[in-house]
Amino acid sequence: MTKTPHEALLRVAQAVRDNAYAPYSKFQVGAAILAADGNIYAGCNVENAAYPEGQCAEASAISAMVAGGSLEIKQICIVKKGSGKVAPCGGCRQKLNEFAASDIPIFVQGADGGLQSYTLGELLPLAFGKTHLEMDK
Ligand code: THU
Repeated sequence: MTKTPHEALLRVAQAVRDNAYAPYSKFQVGAAILAADGNIYAGCNVENAAYPEGQCAEASAISAMVAGGSLEIKQICIVKKGSGKVAPCGGCRQKLNEFAASDIPIFVQGADGGLQSYTLGELLPLAFGKTHLEMDK
């Protein structure tokens, strides 16, 4: 498993993070996906006065990827504004699983501000996915 992100991934995640709309939590997040088509798709969190209607950065990046015509995540980098750590929420781990193999690297901002690398399989063990919907005899 690759331990270093695609060279542009961190920079793109940091740039889009600065556009995050997070007036309620003040927790601005940026996510950048390297897709199988070689393109980088970015997204930030977009909150809403009706709190449950807010969307995570990862979900925004996945939407951009699908809208761009790509359906396979090779790497993702997730950062927050300022120091401190971030980790994809449970729902986003499931969303990533729809479009990524279990061995892809997920780079996240760690407590020291540096990037840490985990596989999707580490973050979402025993994942429920497409294969479960096929009828096993
Ligand atoms: N958030 C993300 O966008 N991604 C994560 O990985 C963690 C949490 C957002 C959701 C909400 O807008 C804010 O951060 C605080 O939970």
